[in-house]
Amino acid sequence: MALIAPSLLSANFLQLQADCDMLNNSKADWFHLDIMDGRFVPNISFGPMFVDFFRKSTTKFCDVHLMIEEPERYAEAFKKAGADNLTVHWEACKHLHRNIQQIKGLGMKAGVAINPHTPVEALKDVLADIDLVCMMSVNPGFGGQAFIPHTINKIIRLREMIDEQSLDVKIEIDGGVNLANAKSIIDAGADVLVAGSTVFNAANPTDVIAQLKQIV
Ligand code: DX5
Ligand code: ZN
Repeated sequence: MALIAPSLLSANFLQLQADCDMLNNSKADWFHLDIMDGRFVPNISFGPMFVDFFRKSTTKFCDVHLMIEEPERYAEAFKKAGADNLTVHWEACKHLHRNIQQIKGLGMKAGVAINPHTPVEALKDVLADIDLVCMMSVNPGFGGQAFIPHTINKIIRLREMIDEQSLDVKIEIDGGVNLANAKSIIDAGADVLVAGSTVFNAANPTDVIAQLKQIV
């Protein structure tokens, strides 16, 4: 059974309290919070202040996905805001090992995200140091995009890499996850499904979360 991490990027920001309440009363496991800087990705979302508000609205695990350049400048701010997991992008880090050490040193779980063009083999020498791989199944920056089918092959390869070394690293799939493709993603070896528009654009988001949660 996969962990379900709804992305608040697709929530209604005029009624965040209601959307947080909905998630808190649903089978969602995590809050997935997408931070965009307008440089690493062509969109700007929200920063630590919003994470702090979300943190206060839930006891669920807060999974913060940084789509920003120079993430080392903000790791401490996101820790203070209450992030449980902090994910940085492989493509945004010149000194990725140092970024991972910084995040763990601050007492958070450490994740590394890879864009669709980045091979899973690029993670080989940090895999033993991290808690999560966020595999982008769309190009990061926006919700509501279509799942890139080649991601399935990448999940299978990464699952093999993790299992060969008996590591405790979660595979999270982010982008274009829906009720039609979730089973093939889980079958390939994913542990965590991020879902933004699939949840928040649904007539009954709670029910969609429960349906995603049921898929084995
Ligand atoms: C995209 C973000 C995703 C996004 C997913 O850059 O990282 O978390 O919110 O949205 P959907 O599920 O609509 O593709
Ligand atoms: Zn994300």
